[in-house]
Amino acid sequence: MKVVITGAAGQISYSLIPFLCEKGIFNSEEKLDLALVEIPGAMERLDGFVKELEDSAYSTVNTISTYDNIQDAVVDADWCLLVGSIPRGIVLNGKEIKERSDLLKINGGIFTEQGKAIGEKAKDNCKVLVVGNPANTNALIGYSNSSNKDHLWMAMTMLDGLRAKAQLSQKLNCHVDDIYRLAIFGNHSPTMFPDLENTNVNGKNAYELINDHAWVKNEYLPRIQQRGAEIIKARGASSASSAARAACDTVKAVEHPTRSGDVFNAAILSDGSYGIPEGIFSGFPLISDGSGNIEIVRDFNLSDFAKSKLEITANELLEERDLVQELI
Ligand code: NAD
Ligand code: LMR
Repeated sequence: MKVVITGAAGQISYSLIPFLCEKGIFNSEEKLDLALVEIPGAMERLDGFVKELEDSAYSTVNTISTYDNIQDAVVDADWCLLVGSIPRGIVLNGKEIKERSDLLKINGGIFTEQGKAIGEKAKDNCKVLVVGNPANTNALIGYSNSSNKDHLWMAMTMLDGLRAKAQLSQKLNCHVDDIYRLAIFGNHSPTMFPDLENTNVNGKNAYELINDHAWVKNEYLPRIQQRGAEIIKARGASSASSAARAACDTVKAVEHPTRSGDVFNAAILSDGSYGIPEGIFSGFPLISDGSGNIEIVRDFNLSDFAKSKLEITANELLEERDLVQELI
């Protein structure tokens, strides 16, 4: 099982790779061949991390290799986790990068090269998760540049889903595992829409249990939508431990069958479901059969309020797509 991770010396990877090496993440008895990718200037830092991974003596791991180029790393890859890119919140050329979309021009180029290499060299059943921001449009760039349309390309919205569950569990005083069918629609950005109208908690409708539309609209939604910015402000760096948890959870969600009556969150290429235009990567409620097949769950009932929110986030994704026309 060959797993490629880019940005392997960065902060997310420092938590993500140990998570991936725990037992039970992949639905296979095969041991892991880790292919860790960095820019040339970060190879020494990566070598230090590799020493720590070696010292962890994971029984799940077969080999650990490092690469300073994507082409060699992705040969025969089963999974590619594309984390490597610049986060917002930092100052670049004297200007603070405030929104994830401000990263489009900076990070977009990375994904043309990576998409090409994965399309040419990864295994035919390769699965790709884009974590680097702006994740949805980076996934579109990578997918568009890949010659292999059989690969499953996803962008990460799992973190938004976990945040949405955590906040809901606090409101309803329930355990996060009691929450089913909490879907994140749209972009991993402040326009994302966490839907509570189709969410169940211990068999009851979450929206009815809350019974307070003003709280959902004015408190819950902005809290989830702005959580990344809140963490950057408090920590002085973007979320890393939780992002790593979410990336690992996405791999696990694809690798194993979804529990009955539930969904998991990732952004995939839209097929027009729920009125989200084709040709953009949008968050949808998904299920996996645990054998590499995932599909959109199509029985969510959306109110006019929800539909208006989906339109806003879809329009933002269309605008982002327009901005990277030359890359796709
Ligand atoms: P980081 O700066 O700590 O690490 C990024 C690493 O990527 C660095 O080590 C850098 O050298 C490397 N890198 C840059 N370009 C590369 C390339 N072309 N190939 C390989 N490696 C490359 O950043 P981080 O905190 O780990 O965050 C990484 C990305 O993940 C950021 O874009 C961040 O905004 C994003 N992110 C996404 C989510 C999400 O929910 N989708 C959540 C958190 C963070
Ligand atoms: C997050 O949601 O925490 C990440 O996308 C990082 C960011 O820029 O907010």
